[in-house]
Amino acid sequence: MKGIIDVMITEVAIKKRIEELAEEITNDYSGLTLYLICVLKGGVMFLSDLSRKLEVDVVMDFIDVSSYGSGTESSGIVRIDKDLDHPVTGRHVLLVEDILDTGQTLSRLIRHLCAQRPASLEVCTLLDKPERRVIDCVIPKYIGFTIPDKFVVGYGLDFDQKYRQLPYIGIYNA
Ligand code: IMP
Ligand code: MG
Repeated sequence: MKGIIDVMITEVAIKKRIEELAEEITNDYSGLTLYLICVLKGGVMFLSDLSRKLEVDVVMDFIDVSSYGSGTESSGIVRIDKDLDHPVTGRHVLLVEDILDTGQTLSRLIRHLCAQRPASLEVCTLLDKPERRVIDCVIPKYIGFTIPDKFVVGYGLDFDQKYRQLPYIGIYNA
């Protein structure tokens, strides 16, 4: 596909890693109702596949954020465009995100959700790009893959809203 220079993580590898994460999460939340909060839009594929492997009661809600900027760089100003349908007060919350990059999006979301006083709050990110971090207080409990500083697309991740439907993670070069 145009713009994709290489496959970084195959569909098979994603599937296998999600099964491992789901087993870990199922064990950690045994007997509890887990509130999965999906960060739109990048987190949808991950939420969809991960949730179907979980063997605990799950409630899903969605939050949409945008960080103003263009191309592959965000401005650092994160705005909540669509909030949760219901507050997560007293709930066991797991934020499901596509990628942790600079940390600005997740730190903003964690502040927002913490203010609602959940019983617990953890982060599950499919990808982690630690080299790019500017805010280091976000420590995900569950990480799918740690990747180098490359711009990636597919499996929910976009460039200019495209490529989200790819079943693998590819390296993008404009
Ligand atoms: P952060 O706020 O810098 O941590 O970035 C988080 C958001 O930026 C992610 O939720 C993605 O939407 C987007 N992002 C960061 N890196 C990439 C990438 O390599 N490909 C596509 N989107 C990315
Ligand atoms: Mg995202």
